[in-house]
Amino acid sequence: MIAPLRGAFHRQLRRRAGHLAGRIAPHLPTGATLLDIGSGTGHNAEALRARGARTCAEADVVDFHVVGGGPVLFDGARLPFADRVFDACLLAFVLSYTDDPVALLREAGRVASGRVLVLQSCPRGRAGRIALRLRGWVQGPLAFRLCAILRLIPSSPAPLHTRRLLSRERVGDLADEAGLRLARAVPEPGLLGLVSRDLFVLEGPPEGPGLAASTPRPRTQRP
Ligand SMILES: C[S@@+](CC[C@H](N)C(=O)[O-])C[C@H]1O[C@@H](n2cnc3c(N)ncnc32)[C@H](O)[C@@H]1O
Repeated sequence: MIAPLRGAFHRQLRRRAGHLAGRIAPHLPTGATLLDIGSGTGHNAEALRARGARTCAEADVVDFHVVGGGPVLFDGARLPFADRVFDACLLAFVLSYTDDPVALLREAGRVASGRVLVLQSCPRGRAGRIALRLRGWVQGPLAFRLCAILRLIPSSPAPLHTRRLLSRERVGDLADEAGLRLARAVPEPGLLGLVSRDLFVLEGPPEGPGLAASTPRPRTQRP
């Protein structure tokens, strides 16, 4: 019973990760070194390595990886890496769950010499907000616990308590507050068109030393 379920679970997550990596890869330099922040099960990092990333390190606040080497654990605020050690950082469906999304974005910008790529489900209007809230119930802490009970993921403290809905404009504003410039937003319709799974391509200042997490960057203009 469990073995076929585990097989289906892996196949589904691999398919999803392959699709996400296909969206992300065109915005990365060839052979990039990456950090996947909020790496979850590890499938996205695995797919990005398969897509040509030289390395894809992982960081998370809890460890429930099922593929790859697993994440470096951190407190959700300060990444244990030096400035600009990665070419790029990925935050895939993480910003809704952080207590301080601006601080996390600023940290991502600090450890990346290039882009910060953010994937985020953004509601379209009132119906979209309702749909995302309902999905949050289904795919949130309950699903996490169920996966742990079924031993699809290792048992760990549930990391998905906070769940804030973020509009596309709000993600742009958060990036701005973190000192990152929104270069591009690439939408992908989902959930009957009520939700858009947006890819935000964020860029830091072109040169100079990475900025410490405690140093606010000057506000930048958004296109
Ligand atoms: C919805 S899951 C997404 C996992 C993975 N990125 C994916 O797309 O499959 C949210 C992830 O964010 C992580 N997370 C929650 N708060 C975080 C924080 N402050 N910093 C980094 N990751 C966090 C959770 O542990 C979880 O792995």
